[in-house]
Order: sequence, then C-alpha cells, then structure tokens
Amino acid sequence: MIDFSAVTEATAPGKIILFGEHAVVYGRPAIAAPISQLRAKATITHSSSNNCYIVAPDLNRHDRLQDLPPDDALALAARQVLDAAQIAWPPDVTIYVNSQIPIASGMGSGAAIAAAIIRALAQHLQRPDLLTNERVSALAYEVEKIHHGTPSGIDNTVVAYEQPIWFVRQSPYNQIEPFTVAAPLRFVVADTGVRSSTKIAVGDVRRQYNEQPARFAQIFDACGRIARTARMAIETGSVTQVGQLMTENHGWLQKMTVSSSELDRLVAAALEAGALGAKLSGAGRGGNMIALVADDGMETAVRTALHQAGASHILTTILA
Ligand code: MEV
Repeated sequence: MIDFSAVTEATAPGKIILFGEHAVVYGRPAIAAPISQLRAKATITHSSSNNCYIVAPDLNRHDRLQDLPPDDALALAARQVLDAAQIAWPPDVTIYVNSQIPIASGMGSGAAIAAAIIRALAQHLQRPDLLTNERVSALAYEVEKIHHGTPSGIDNTVVAYEQPIWFVRQSPYNQIEPFTVAAPLRFVVADTGVRSSTKIAVGDVRRQYNEQPARFAQIFDACGRIARTARMAIETGSVTQVGQLMTENHGWLQKMTVSSSELDRLVAAALEAGALGAKLSGAGRGGNMIALVADDGMETAVRTALHQAGASHILTTILA
C-alpha cells in the first residue's frame, strides 16, 4: 500500500564541466563533476485538493499539473515518472521545488531540478526500479531536451550519478565512466552574473559547425584530445598539467564563440593571480568560470582577483 500522507524529499547537485563542453555534443569526450554543496530539492506532500500541484516559489510558480503544456520542464519531469510508472491519473500531491543552483549559469540547474522531481516522485510512488542513477538520468534527459535542444546527456548524467564522470555521447549507449582522482583538485567557481541560454549557445555552435564543418571538426577534435590528456593527468595526480589543459580548453571555446568579455575577464584575472588554469564551464556566453588552485594562499589570491574583476558569486569545490 502506498502511504499517500507521507512526505517525500529528494535532492540533486549542481555541476561543473571540467573539460569538453560543446565538443561533447559532437561525440568528443568530456569530463564533469558534481557540486554537492549547491542542490535542487523536491518535496512531495499530500494535497487535499484532489489535484497534483507543482509549486516553485523561486520561479513564481504555482500550477496544476494538468494545466501545464507538454513543454513545461517541471511538468515534464513529473510526467516522465507517471508515464514510466504507467499511472494515468496523477496522485493528489503537491510537488514543492526549490533550488540553490543559479538558473542559466552553466551549473546544471535544469537537470538538477528534473532529477530531484523524478527521484522524489518515484520514491513517493514506491518505484525503486525508477530510482537507479541510470533511470533517473534517462528520464531527466527527456527534460533536458527542452532546455538544450540537442543535449549531449552529460548534465543529467553527472547530476544523477553525483560523481566525477568521463562521458562520451555515442550510440546505442553513452560511455559513462567514473574515474580516479589521484590528487585533490581545488576549483574556485565564479559567476559572471550574466544569465545565458544553453539552447541558444548550443544552437549557435551548431549553425557555425554547419557553415564551417571542417574548421569546427578540428576545434572539437582539439577539445577531445585535451579531455583525454586531462583524464590521464587527473588519474596520475599531475595537477599543474590539469590547469594548463583547462586554459588551453578555454582558448578553443573562445574560437567556438561561446566565451564572452565577462568570462574572459574572470579567466584572465584568475590566471594573473596565479591560478594553475582557468576556463569557462558549461554552455558559456555568461554563467560560470572555474579556476584551479593549488593551496590556501593561491585560493585567497584568486578569489580576491575574481571579486575585483566583478564576479557576482564565488565558491570553492574540491574534487577528491
Ligand atoms: C552544458 O552544460 C554542456 C554543453 O556541452 C551542452 C551539452 O552537452 O548538452 C554546452
């Protein structure tokens, strides 16, 4: 018996892309890691109104599921679970959604919100078969299509698995491999404060690729080579090399036109302050950049420089 009066809660983390964003859409490898201190949360409570509501105060949302259009991301996350569980009529529940992950900032907010809703609802419906990382990721991928157009699948994967992953988009199954981090990697993550649409950035890269396929294939190949070398560097604890590869990756992202003056300013400020490497992270054009630092002293210097260069939020995350 399902206890419909129970309160169910689930969360999912934000993410950063260490290497290979955009090129990953075209089958080149990429590396991503969760940011566990920034989370999206979905809470499910019984509703006495004979309806299923989705309430997201941060987004100014309070809607009946049945009134929401097919392309509404929050509704689609819930409908994915109901369809997979073969439930024709939604239960009388309220799904509360809130998130600490800034929207449209390259930190996987859309994927994390979807994963949190999927986990909470699957748990509420007592469907453990829908709670595996693989299933959560696959259901969240369907929601990602609304945000991205042609998502590679890396965002939903890293937030569902919540571990550093090596990801290659391929058919019939993506290559998803957790890997060893031999020496801790300390990243300062700084927000430009500029919100940017992943769909537009991914679409612009697609248009340029269609116009100049050979040139863009070379750029993607270079990013793929960087990701492969970076994986070896991370697995062998070659921290300085990881930093150099990040900065190199940023150069290729500039050539894809997905950087911006704000991102370039923060990357330059971090490097001038002594960071081992720096790059934009995610779809670009705005959102966040990451800088690799070696110790407390370097972290302080880089944080100060980023602050002075106009970063709106700064946090540190350690990959160990
Ligand atoms: C966005 O976090 C990463 C992109 O490569 C898009 C994708 O992989 O779907 C820009």
